[in-house]
Amino acid sequence: MRAGEYDFVVVANRLPVDRVVAPDGSVSWRTSPGGLVTAMEPVMRAADGAWVGWSGDTDETGGEGGDTAAPFDEGGVHLVPVPLSSAEVEEYYEGFSNGTLWPLYHDVIAAPEFHRDWWDAYVAVNRRFAQATAAQAAEGATVWVQDYQLQLVPAMLRERRPDLRIGFFNHIPFPPYELFAQLPWRGQVLDGLLGADLVGFQRMSDANNFLRACRRARGLASRRQELVTGGRRVRATAFPISIDSGSFDALARTERTEGRVAEVRFELGAPRKVLLGVDRLDYTKGITHRLKAYGELLADGAVDPEDTVLVQVATPSRERVASYRALRDEIELTVGRINGDHGTIGRPAVQYLHHSQPREEMAALYRAADVMLVTALRDGMNLVAKEYVASRHDERGVLVLSEFTGAADELTQALLVNPHDINRLKELILQALAMGEKEQARRMRALRRRVLEHDVTRWASEFLRSLEQLTDGGSPVAVEPAAGAERTALAADRAADAVGAAELVR
Ligand code: ADP
Ligand code: F6P
Repeated sequence: MRAGEYDFVVVANRLPVDRVVAPDGSVSWRTSPGGLVTAMEPVMRAADGAWVGWSGDTDETGGEGGDTAAPFDEGGVHLVPVPLSSAEVEEYYEGFSNGTLWPLYHDVIAAPEFHRDWWDAYVAVNRRFAQATAAQAAEGATVWVQDYQLQLVPAMLRERRPDLRIGFFNHIPFPPYELFAQLPWRGQVLDGLLGADLVGFQRMSDANNFLRACRRARGLASRRQELVTGGRRVRATAFPISIDSGSFDALARTERTEGRVAEVRFELGAPRKVLLGVDRLDYTKGITHRLKAYGELLADGAVDPEDTVLVQVATPSRERVASYRALRDEIELTVGRINGDHGTIGRPAVQYLHHSQPREEMAALYRAADVMLVTALRDGMNLVAKEYVASRHDERGVLVLSEFTGAADELTQALLVNPHDINRLKELILQALAMGEKEQARRMRALRRRVLEHDVTRWASEFLRSLEQLTDGGSPVAVEPAAGAERTALAADRAADAVGAAELVR
């Protein structure tokens, strides 16, 4: 295959912008939802590379060979749309990515579904992404594959283009083997990821889950975060992602934002205290747990709706997937009940918005919130928590943060909570509402130090430096495992599991 012209190529399920076709046929582009785009956009603007991804609409010519949109340049990035037919959107995106992998990788909070035709579509679409990427990458280029929708791309790409340096980053958790083992195609998924030189995860526990899966399902020996397969070294370790902290901090300081903060607080009935939740509308985010805790505090009389309001901003997400539709109904029913029971005219107890907001408005909301509630049941990182901290140059505000987010490993000065423990969540909400300014400032200073020092540029450069070191000289280091090492690794892993199980019983 002929090489392309880009030395750096990012490949992600989505482009940073979605193609929106209006009823009159006119086409416009809108920022795509989610943490991946938030994180990758500033990295790509600085890199002068190509971004291969789906444009978010469907191509009725049938995906393969379709031409929804030709490559185009935006903000210094070369965008290469990959077409998907509506059947592929159903089977690859809504089906295998978000009906199988997403719940499986998030502690099976919802039940994953396993369908062979979804898997077939996943394989076909991953192949198309690999082909499109191979056509863009220059000889010896660095390709960075993103997230769970494209786990087969590293191996498919390596097969076509062994000259490439390939990194993979998983934005969501990687499950313990006991859950991952349910996947009928677990071996193929691991083989796909093992096509990369470097496989990055949010937390060390995710990386270790992956290495253990490689030992269990593929019999591969690993040592110090590395294993050897097909004569190549593959490294799997943690690179906790972040945000463009400096630009969020700057945005929160502008006169315009300050003005908007005052307006928002006035509209919410200042001096009422403001609690805030900001999430994609997803069952992993624990929105119903948050509403339950807040509703009970109102019902107990521990919180007075005259003095306090909860603002819940929920971005529409994956709206054709049944579990997401059911969640939206449940949330809206609960919000309606709470407002019916506790609201007054012009003064709802919960202000609920089901749409996306511009970044400026997000910064103003963060600045206006006395308490930020992040109650995810499982989350790879949670960038909202970091955005809240980056916006608080006034060193005010309290972050209540779920232990089950990647962010909790870093943001230890937040009020950490198990969101399943509703009583504890209620206590912490009260503690946050009552916290004095001195303690708020002490905690926020420490949080800000972490978020401002560890920004997304540092994340990307640490990943890419590590990838470069690993493949120094262009070709991956060839090391053969000692004869029988793989079998020994598997036996050792099984023995370790047996000891672990015996300890549990004891
Ligand atoms: P996920 O990747 O699961 O969506 P994250 O918390 O890591 O979760 O990232 C969410 C990103 O989406 C953040 O950058 C946040 O600002 C943005 N976001 C969430 N809700 C909204 C909204 N209603 N309007 C605009 N942006 C939003
Ligand atoms: O960060 C996790 C993630 O699934 C990204 O891969 C994705 O782009 C984002 O959340 C939003 O989800 P979706 O692309 O399905 O709308």
